[in-house]
Amino acid sequence: MSPSSSMQRSKLRVISLFLVSVFVLVSVHQQLSDWINSRSFKERPLFDFDFPEDTYHDTQETEAPYNAHDPDDNVVVLPPVTQLPFLCQSYECAVGKWVPRREKFTSLEHVQTVYSNLYHPVWSGCGVGEPPEDEEEKKRLEGQKLVDTMNWEWVPDRGMLLEYDPVEFVVRLLKSPGGLVLVGDSISRQHWHAMYYTWRHLNITFDSNPPHLPLAGVANVEQFVLSKSSPMTKILQEKAGVPQSRMERPFFTLLEDHMLLHQPDIRAITGAKPTYKWIHKYKMVDGWEDHLKWLAMPREEEKSSVTEDTLVLINAGAHWSRHELGMLRAPTNAEEQVLLEAVYPQMIDLVTSRLSPIERTSIYYRSTSPGHPTCKDHFMPYTDMAHARLQEKGLVHRLQETVVSSDDKKQRSRWDWDMFKPHNEMWNQTIDSMTEKRSPESKNAKWYYFDIWDLSMQRPDAHLNPGQDCLHWCLPAVFDDWTKLFVHRVNLEESRADLKVLG
Ligand SMILES: *[C@@H]1O[C@H](CO)[C@@H](O)[C@H](O)[C@H]1NC(C)=O
Ligand SMILES: *[C@@H]1O[C@H](CO)[C@@H](O)[C@H](O)[C@H]1NC(C)=O
Repeated sequence: MSPSSSMQRSKLRVISLFLVSVFVLVSVHQQLSDWINSRSFKERPLFDFDFPEDTYHDTQETEAPYNAHDPDDNVVVLPPVTQLPFLCQSYECAVGKWVPRREKFTSLEHVQTVYSNLYHPVWSGCGVGEPPEDEEEKKRLEGQKLVDTMNWEWVPDRGMLLEYDPVEFVVRLLKSPGGLVLVGDSISRQHWHAMYYTWRHLNITFDSNPPHLPLAGVANVEQFVLSKSSPMTKILQEKAGVPQSRMERPFFTLLEDHMLLHQPDIRAITGAKPTYKWIHKYKMVDGWEDHLKWLAMPREEEKSSVTEDTLVLINAGAHWSRHELGMLRAPTNAEEQVLLEAVYPQMIDLVTSRLSPIERTSIYYRSTSPGHPTCKDHFMPYTDMAHARLQEKGLVHRLQETVVSSDDKKQRSRWDWDMFKPHNEMWNQTIDSMTEKRSPESKNAKWYYFDIWDLSMQRPDAHLNPGQDCLHWCLPAVFDDWTKLFVHRVNLEESRADLKVLG
């Protein structure tokens, strides 16, 4: 047998395997086709696997047989179905690593073209650790830092992520009474910012806080209603098939409320003395839960077309620290942290008990993302999670090393960055047990734990202002990946719910 014919044969074998895999995938997907059809994903199939172009050419040129036999008629052993490339499922999507972006950005101009829009200045740079005096040079370095930060993509260890389609996502939001509502602190605001840029790029335009809305003009509230004059709005409305009344309400809202609880609740759960002087100046929105209820309320006249759940993406992370909660005092650091550990689950109970009765909502708790004390020394992601864990050991100690005085060191420990992970776990467990207890007939809010910990943990290089701020993130970088994961998750959960309904 000549080397070329044996090569030919192994090539054929690979191709047959590939075709069979495709066949199996297609059959599995057939079950979902009703759902896809009902959601106007026709122009852009939801399950877009993006097989490499040349694989298709090869199969055409060699006319591989459409069965699972090789030329010697030996039955080809198929890999088990679970090992086929398939969409990652809930928790899987957040487990993986960063790899160099396939279509690399070559310059700041390149990034700016890909993110260009008609309404805002484009992203111009990320903070660099120690910027030079020279303004020009500083600008150049910051631009390059943005390019470097953007040149990575998140790849789950198991399964694939759907491509994010901003138009389809906005259409989905219009099909629910309240669209998407982000609730949380400044990191949620950053995410909000990055998310609406992905829409601006496609000429999806909107007005913020038009005066006819409740809470218009209230501090820390952003409510987006699609602009009447824009041609894109017409397209979106047609795709969604919703009446004009729906178009008058927001499809995207930010309620910047840093702790989700306000003075009376926090006093109660921390056992603060009546004489404790309230010094907290964090951002909040009075009555945000009621506003959420208003947003999510189904409208009778929209019953036939606005049929989806309102989506809520909520977080209460970094501010739940002793730095914010000055009333938590004990003789030792460890004892104080125990007090915090007792307070946090009480907050979870209050928030979940208030939001759960809101019907027709899907509430995703976004995990709190980690800070990296020495972010200024990092110029690329960690190679994987094991690497990240190893390098980020001794978190609080390393955070303290960044300051000199003992007072500052004490303050740093009161930031409680080491509590983010246990706090996340509390949410995960609470949501798990709520989901378990929820009866299938219940109309109450559905809760999901939306995890972005690992992918953020592996990005010490992607913070906002290395040397000064190693907690916030440079925009848009990791936020775009959060969005992609979030939209993927929503698609997945909703297809699952539909399959249940179908049978
Ligand atoms: C947005 O509008 C501008 C100006 O009308 C046009 O040049 C551009 O191609 C549009 N972008 C998209 C993504 O449709
Ligand atoms: C969340 O809980 C689920 C179910 O208990 C578990 O499988 C998963 O690993 C947890 N995720 C995280 C990030 O802790």
